[in-house]
Amino acid sequence: MEKKNIDWENLGFGYITTDKRYVSNYKNGAWDEGGLTEDANITLNECAGILQYCQECFEGLKAYTTEEGHIVTFRPDLNAERMEDSARRLEMPVFPKERFLDALDQVIKANAAWVPPYGSGATLYIRPYMFASSPVIGVKPAEEYQFRIFTTPVGPYFKGGVHPLTICVSDFDRAAPHGTGHIKAGLNYAMSLHPYVVAHQNGFDENMYLDPATRTYVEETGGANFIFITKDHKIVVPKSDSILPSITRRSIVTVAKDILGLEVEERKVALAEIGDFAECGLCGTAAVISPVGKVVDHGKEICFASGMEKMGEITQKLYDTLTGIQMGRIEGPEGWVRRIL
Ligand code: PLP
Ligand code: COI
Repeated sequence: MEKKNIDWENLGFGYITTDKRYVSNYKNGAWDEGGLTEDANITLNECAGILQYCQECFEGLKAYTTEEGHIVTFRPDLNAERMEDSARRLEMPVFPKERFLDALDQVIKANAAWVPPYGSGATLYIRPYMFASSPVIGVKPAEEYQFRIFTTPVGPYFKGGVHPLTICVSDFDRAAPHGTGHIKAGLNYAMSLHPYVVAHQNGFDENMYLDPATRTYVEETGGANFIFITKDHKIVVPKSDSILPSITRRSIVTVAKDILGLEVEERKVALAEIGDFAECGLCGTAAVISPVGKVVDHGKEICFASGMEKMGEITQKLYDTLTGIQMGRIEGPEGWVRRIL
């Protein structure tokens, strides 16, 4: 199959319209059989639930070309399960896991020419999403929904590729206690746009959000979880009920424990203690593992020993092992890599 003529090495994290997308509609209590379409546009009633009350959830995963030339995805079953959790919390119908996986296969196969080649540094980002499509004016769940998946080739999420980021401690909260921080709902991202713009205006790459109840513990950024590494090479990951259960973070925990033989602690991490860590990183599908060089807390600079020039030694090991598994260079735990082509 001939690949599209794209400058893969220089792709940013943006949207490019690819050939096909998947659509299934929910009506009268059931999902239709669904299928692929070339139409990238959606026509909606002005009163659709998504437009009025933001009843929507989504997922994000990637397709990779392996060293041997296969196209694979990474732990898509966990995206399917997380989307089920998001849908339930938002009173939306669940799109069944088996159908989610089948729809992914269809849409990736149909866009195989858009999956960046091995070694290009780019990947095919895949965005499953679901929204209320029928009209609602009283505040209640809609009757009809649409599930879709589109794909777009992407490069690194943060400009300049893998370089240490500078993060600021945000004065805004991302999630409420007992709210929706643990699911992947568009509403969590809408409210993060203002803090994001403010952070950028002040010269920061991203926000560090704190726990909304006490504002003393580290939660996450607008689009990634944190990982910290102690001076004696222990991995510490923040535990909280109001952060997104990152599939990348959960995979890093397994890689660290079972492949690299490192100790891992999943616990609350106080802002007051982060200066004691040697390394810090952001992890997520889009972020992969992006090193953090510095956190700025209202003018006070917290600098990690790994510095502003390169990834720390342990972060690099985690990055190499995780991406090695995703690109087929390293054998990962059973079932992590799903071969599509
Ligand atoms: N946290 C937030 C708020 C995110 O948007 C994402 C991205 O999906 C993550 C964490 C990382 O999750 P994952 O590793 O499953 O992509
Ligand atoms: C992802 O990593 O898939 C996300 O959804 C994060 C988003 C900021 C692009």
